[in-house]
Amino acid sequence: MTQPKLMKGSVPSILDTIGDTPIVKLNHVTEGIESEIYVKVEYLNPAGSMKDRVGLNIINDAEKRGMLGPGGTIIEATSGNTGAGLAMVAAIRGYKCIFVMPDKMSAEKVDALRAYGAKVVICPTAVEPSDPRSYYSVARRLVEETPGAYYANQYHNPANPEAHFLSTGPEIFEQTQGDFDVFVSGMGTGGTLSGSGRYLKEKMPNLTIVGVDPIGSLYYEYVKTGRMTKAFSYYVEGIGEDFLPSTMNLDILDDVVQVDDKECFMMTRDLVRKEGIFCGGSCGAAVMGAIKYAKQLKEPRRILVLLPDNAQKYLSKIFNDDWMRSNGFMDEEDATGTVAHILTGKPRQVLTIQRDATIRNAIGMMKEHGISQIPVLDESGRHCGLVSEIDLLNYLVENPKSVESSIADLVEGNYATVTPHTRIQLLRNIFNDAKVVLVIENDELKGLLTKIDLIDFIADQPLSKG
Ligand SMILES: Cc1ncc(COP(=O)(O)O)c(C=O)c1O
Repeated sequence: MTQPKLMKGSVPSILDTIGDTPIVKLNHVTEGIESEIYVKVEYLNPAGSMKDRVGLNIINDAEKRGMLGPGGTIIEATSGNTGAGLAMVAAIRGYKCIFVMPDKMSAEKVDALRAYGAKVVICPTAVEPSDPRSYYSVARRLVEETPGAYYANQYHNPANPEAHFLSTGPEIFEQTQGDFDVFVSGMGTGGTLSGSGRYLKEKMPNLTIVGVDPIGSLYYEYVKTGRMTKAFSYYVEGIGEDFLPSTMNLDILDDVVQVDDKECFMMTRDLVRKEGIFCGGSCGAAVMGAIKYAKQLKEPRRILVLLPDNAQKYLSKIFNDDWMRSNGFMDEEDATGTVAHILTGKPRQVLTIQRDATIRNAIGMMKEHGISQIPVLDESGRHCGLVSEIDLLNYLVENPKSVESSIADLVEGNYATVTPHTRIQLLRNIFNDAKVVLVIENDELKGLLTKIDLIDFIADQPLSKG
């Protein structure tokens, strides 16, 4: 029997509407910036994000490799968009889906996945990844116990970046014919950045690729210094990591920009209110990152920013004034101030030491200035880590004759990085995880803070009245 011809103006299934998302110029949030900023509106994909491309490619790839067949079950540890993409494709192809999520996720996200017919298993957030109740452990156990299970594993599945290499990258090139200079994307699994970035760089060798990373994630410091530093919690969803997923290819990155929760959320609200673009928090992050990058350019450039998902899932958070206020994101001026305020009370010059200095030099400096850690600079004058008194001590106890050896092997990454604009309220949380904080702006080391600096600063504040 011949298939009836498709009605004019229709497509065979919703999957045929994935992609072909528009690119739109920003006109208001970019006021005062010479560069032009354009956004690729990925929330117009049918399940609401660029992860529709990933869901489709992961399932196509698993079917092709014989890993997923009729009656099969797709399992993923996901907090949202990838789940929605997978669930949409699974609904059409008749697969079952089980998503394992941490309990901090919003009810809207859980309900959206259940709406597609997926089963959602909620696990406690406050347990170690190795705990059998953690969502990683539960996902792994379900994969072992479920016949015909396929673990989508977006953090280590090459089909994730490949989705963007095969779809987002070529689409952007076709739409623009390469008529832009800089590509900006948030950094989560790295699928978007690595996949689209690789395709675009092959076509446009002069393209600059810029990643955007939230303060609290480890990518920024890893790109700048090669060190894995302390990750700490932040609110913006979908970007930033506390480990390095194998789907992230940092080699194609030209630069990385840090953004904090407050600026991400204020920009997200502005994108909706001033540009009419109904987008989510990581979109505000990406645009904020692009604007920061544009501000330090010597001459105007055309910048294309990828916007991952829509505002719907964040209505009870970013777009809710009470939530914003109770988390300190709405105050005009944070009552307790920013990191810059703490730095003004400290000596201007930050003490640093060269990487090729000796252990004796470092001990001498610590003694002279009464400090117990010193930021280390590499040959080009860039900060590349920290040496601390305790590491020097431990090393010398084991190697008593080595005071003349270089400190290079003792440089460590046990610190967190912030900018001068980071709010003091956030700093309090950071010190729950990190011992030392380096303040960095435009690659320049502006200061080093310890808990006692914060305590001194808060103690010196005049008591508020009433
Ligand atoms: C809302 C949102 N933004 C950004 C990202 C980051 O994209 P990628 O994982 O491709 O790096 C994700 C990833 O899940 C996301 O859900």
